[in-house]
Amino acid sequence: MLKHEDIIAAIPHALSGVDLPELGPRISGKVRDIYRQNGRRVLITTDRLSAFDRIIGLVPYKGQVLNQLSAFWFDATAHIIPNHVLSVPDPNVTVARECRPYPVEVIVRGYITGVTTTSLWYHYERGVRELYGLRLPDGLQKNDPLPQPVITPTTKATTGHDERLTRDDILARKLVPPDQWEQIERAALALFAYGQEVARRAELILVDTKYEFGWSDDLNRPVLIDEVHTPDSSRFWRAETYEERVGAGLEPQNFDKEFIRLWYAARGYRGEGEPPPLPVELAVQASLRYITVYEMLTGRPFEPAAYPAGPRIREALL
Ligand SMILES: Nc1ncnc2c1ncn2[C@@H]1O[C@H](COP(=O)(O)OP(=O)(O)OP(=O)(O)O)[C@@H](O)[C@H]1O
Ligand SMILES: [Mg+2]
Repeated sequence: MLKHEDIIAAIPHALSGVDLPELGPRISGKVRDIYRQNGRRVLITTDRLSAFDRIIGLVPYKGQVLNQLSAFWFDATAHIIPNHVLSVPDPNVTVARECRPYPVEVIVRGYITGVTTTSLWYHYERGVRELYGLRLPDGLQKNDPLPQPVITPTTKATTGHDERLTRDDILARKLVPPDQWEQIERAALALFAYGQEVARRAELILVDTKYEFGWSDDLNRPVLIDEVHTPDSSRFWRAETYEERVGAGLEPQNFDKEFIRLWYAARGYRGEGEPPPLPVELAVQASLRYITVYEMLTGRPFEPAAYPAGPRIREALL
């Protein structure tokens, strides 16, 4: 296991991006650098940390954890739905089938929590019982399990904020054809059930997560794309302390980015203007959490790949 000082030493080498002009124009998401090549999408997961919809700093080994954890889940869930992975030529790189992403983020929630306006708890606390086309029972407390996991889709907004959707909206607005939406719903619930089971064996609770699906011309069907059950796309709580903490009115111990949002919020930053720089200690704590989740979920020791990562990735791809 990497130690605190190993991660501090890695900070100056954390991967901010990879320039490979030989592969064509670079497309940059918030976290990934992407190159498109005849039906394939090269996804390089960097160490960029996003929060408040912007990049706030670099976290050593985060890119490797996300890429290898997604690879683990894609492999483990191939019996539920086919996915975009063609190969993983480097710890930070996945070569995927280029798909046509549906303009819907498929969020599945097993618990009622959150603070943002797309979260269930935000509305429930204000008395709302009907949203996303779902009916919620009375009497739930923050961080309680839902009677059963639910799908709460949102638009995948290219600009601005994500908008809540119901199944009827998705069909009426023809965002996804009905038969494909049905396949997607079934896959999403099965993926979530499987994810919860694996998480539970690792003494974690998979609280909620976001899936993306895309149409694959190769496979002639919807497939799972992007990333799966990572701390960037999911909330994880420690199972062991959940009951006790929630019973005492405390927040569950989390392994997601919530502690970073809280640190910024405590300093009065809520997403307006330039964020204060990510402090070294916060980057180290984030790195350790990402690595810990990886080890718990996969049951494998994390094997840090060599820094600097740029030359290594270039060699794997060219
Ligand atoms: N197989 C695939 N085919 C097509 N697009 C994909 C595939 N897998 C992932 N994507 C897209 O690639 C991008 C991944 O980059 P990244 O995660 O950095 O983006 P993001 O910050 O989450 O979102 P944005 O694209 O809005 O910046 C996402 O837009 C995702 O929808
Ligand atoms: Mg993303």
